[in-house]
Amino acid sequence: MSRSFKGLVLMSGSLSSEVDSMESRQAPCCSQADSPALDSGYWQNRYDQGQTGWDRGEPSPALQYWLESGQLQPCRILVPGCGRGHEVIELAAAGFEVTAIDFAPAAIAALRTQLEGRELDASLIQADLFDYRPDQSFDAIYEQTCLCAIQPNQRVAYEARLANWLQPGGKLYALFMQTESNSGPPFACPPAAMQGLFPADRWRWPAALEPIAHPAQLVELAGVLERV
Ligand SMILES: C[S@@+](CC[C@H](N)C(=O)[O-])C[C@H]1O[C@@H](n2cnc3c(N)ncnc32)[C@H](O)[C@@H]1O
Repeated sequence: MSRSFKGLVLMSGSLSSEVDSMESRQAPCCSQADSPALDSGYWQNRYDQGQTGWDRGEPSPALQYWLESGQLQPCRILVPGCGRGHEVIELAAAGFEVTAIDFAPAAIAALRTQLEGRELDASLIQADLFDYRPDQSFDAIYEQTCLCAIQPNQRVAYEARLANWLQPGGKLYALFMQTESNSGPPFACPPAAMQGLFPADRWRWPAALEPIAHPAQLVELAGVLERV
């Protein structure tokens, strides 16, 4: 896969008209009526059953692009909903101080085994990310298929956690899942809804989001948001 992004998705001219809309912050973009409880048992079962279509088996090309282009340099970084954590391994190997959270025991165990096998270090936390209260803020967060994996009605709370975990000027390296499906997971993260969720008084948006192919025949839109 190409290491450079192609086919930019330009963001609409004014973000501010959307970010103040309480309606867009409260209304999920998609239905969760038929969704199962997305608790640790649900995700553990997905790992146990081998139903892990999101897992590339290697780091995302978006992460590789950000690293190779120098846009992401060694720092204190958090990976929420890390799964088996191919990106955690890549970041640890590149000299980052990585903290990774996931509440599925199988995900953390697989990641720990990989890290130990490669003699790499990262802080692994098996917990619900909504309960996570770090002592210190982070320089960066890598968000990949966690936002689309939680219930849409948890998104506002998740955005508040992300904003709180990052120090001012910190960067959110985000991959927003695009899907036509009205149910999930993965739940769709269309750009207009994301602009409402990540408001301009807390986040500086890039001029464009850039499409990245996803193994589940889907597309993610990649962009770096700065914590104001
Ligand atoms: C779709 S998977 C993505 C894993 C990884 N980010 C990747 O791209 O390969 C979503 C992951 O988020 C974890 N997760 C979902 N909700 C969570 C929560 N509230 N707290 C901690 N982990 C959560 C799940 O256990 C699962 O491993």
